[in-house]
Amino acid sequence: MKKVSIFAIITSLFVSTFSIANEVNVFNARHYKADSEIYSKFTNLTGIKVNLINGKSGALEKRIISEGADTSADLYITADAGRCGAMDAKGTLQGGLTSPAIKAAVPKTFRTSKWVGIAKRARIIYYSPERVTGAELSGMTYEGLADPKWKGRLVIRKSSNIYNKSLVASLIKNNGKTATAAWAKGVVANMARTPTGNDRAQIMAVAAGEADIAVANTYYLALMLSGKKGAEQQEAAKKVKAFFPNQNDRGTHMNVSCAALVKGAPNKTNAVKLVEFLLTPESQEHFTNYTFEFPIIDGVSPNPLVVNNLGLDFKQDMKTKLDSYGKNQAAAVEVMTAAGWK
Ligand code: FE2
Repeated sequence: MKKVSIFAIITSLFVSTFSIANEVNVFNARHYKADSEIYSKFTNLTGIKVNLINGKSGALEKRIISEGADTSADLYITADAGRCGAMDAKGTLQGGLTSPAIKAAVPKTFRTSKWVGIAKRARIIYYSPERVTGAELSGMTYEGLADPKWKGRLVIRKSSNIYNKSLVASLIKNNGKTATAAWAKGVVANMARTPTGNDRAQIMAVAAGEADIAVANTYYLALMLSGKKGAEQQEAAKKVKAFFPNQNDRGTHMNVSCAALVKGAPNKTNAVKLVEFLLTPESQEHFTNYTFEFPIIDGVSPNPLVVNNLGLDFKQDMKTKLDSYGKNQAAAVEVMTAAGWK
């Protein structure tokens, strides 16, 4: 009897210790309501509890930086490779996302050893088919946004926006800082208005006739068409068409939602397991259907709204490694600010 009770105590101690350790802490800055379903599935499959710490990217980054080596964060999940790259530059990440499953799932362009793309998006041009001709768009590139023919016809959001920082960083990587500084001045000269609003607001501006072309991410058009943002945005989205720039050279600028491995992560092994799970077809289908992003793995279709209105039938820029977005971020901000890009 005594033996049994000691055994029971030891067992319960072991179980409780095990359950304390068998968890993973995710600092999550993206679409957390929808994504919580996928984390529940991971727990059901592996027994690893996912503690979601949801917040805005800036607040989560500050917390990770201030906690330093004592951080409770295992993974930082956010949108934009520029954010993951900037956290890497601050020394807050560690290597370890190098398992065969991760390497097999994600093309090299979209990952480093410290962070991995978990879903893809492109930053593209939307245009009014009534006011922009096919000839005007023929061979259109990001570089061409500075062409004086677009004077007073272009809308794009503020230079403080991470998607723009990454786009401009990629231009610096490809064309150099001097050429990109001149380009930024041309873009500012072409703006139909002082930058305001989010990506969807740029699409709305083209639909309303305030501008002829807008720069915005792919998933927003599908989100607007889905009706989840209301009838007005749904109608506006029907009035614009998508154009994928740089099809005759390096391809369209790509970006990702990324999962980064935090330095000092208390549950590193579980964090790697979770990233591997996020790269399975089941998780990828979830991302494509809830956020309208492109899958990062092969063999999964985007949501039908994406397939029908955007497609994946375009040349993606697979040459410009996404770690250049973080590396060139300071230079990107510098050239945009110098150009007077609000
Ligand atoms: Fe977004």
